[in-house]
Amino acid sequence: MIFLDSSDPKEIKDISAWGIVAGVTTNPLIIAREAGNVDLETRIREILAVSEGHVSVELTTETEEAMLEESELYHSWDKRVCIKVPFSETGLRVLNKLVKRGVPTNVTCLMSFNQAYLAALAGATYVSIFSGRVRDMGYDVRSIISETRAILDREKLASQIIVGSIRHLMDVNEALQAGAHIVTVTPPILRKMLWNPRTEETIREFNTAWA
Ligand code: E4P
Repeated sequence: MIFLDSSDPKEIKDISAWGIVAGVTTNPLIIAREAGNVDLETRIREILAVSEGHVSVELTTETEEAMLEESELYHSWDKRVCIKVPFSETGLRVLNKLVKRGVPTNVTCLMSFNQAYLAALAGATYVSIFSGRVRDMGYDVRSIISETRAILDREKLASQIIVGSIRHLMDVNEALQAGAHIVTVTPPILRKMLWNPRTEETIREFNTAWA
């Protein structure tokens, strides 16, 4: 499955019309880059209006109490809001409480099998492994994805693996082949998935012949 890694309502609306988008992920950096000093609630409501499935909204506070308060606020906007919990010991405590309340969760910033396994054991709806950032450290993200998928299947854990931090088309292909349930892709990379020079040439050849 494909999620859109974007906070741009126009892009989300345009690409959702292709019928291939199952959800949206945002993070504070994406929102700051795409929208600057925007009102978060307004922006998320705009995204909700033009999308389907979960819309992940990331927590920006760092204490358990503040994170739970923030989660409650975001989830009150819409049941489709999925709380993106940055992975840490405090994050796990917050996750555990959200899971017990039936709130959808996306544990984020995961760089290793161990972290993804802990997040899945704690009942996260999604575990987000960061392909590009893992590769920046010189590690092979494919084995992290495939080992995580194997243990989820073996222990019948319900979490779905999202692979984010996608920088190239090959990252999409490799993540899916390694066992990711979902890749979350930015609009520019997703548009690259459409394009093949041979396809364009062939269509031109057919339409010229027809004319
Ligand atoms: C995933 O949910 C994140 O929003 C995102 O993919 C992080 O990617 P980056 O490494 O480009 O910041």
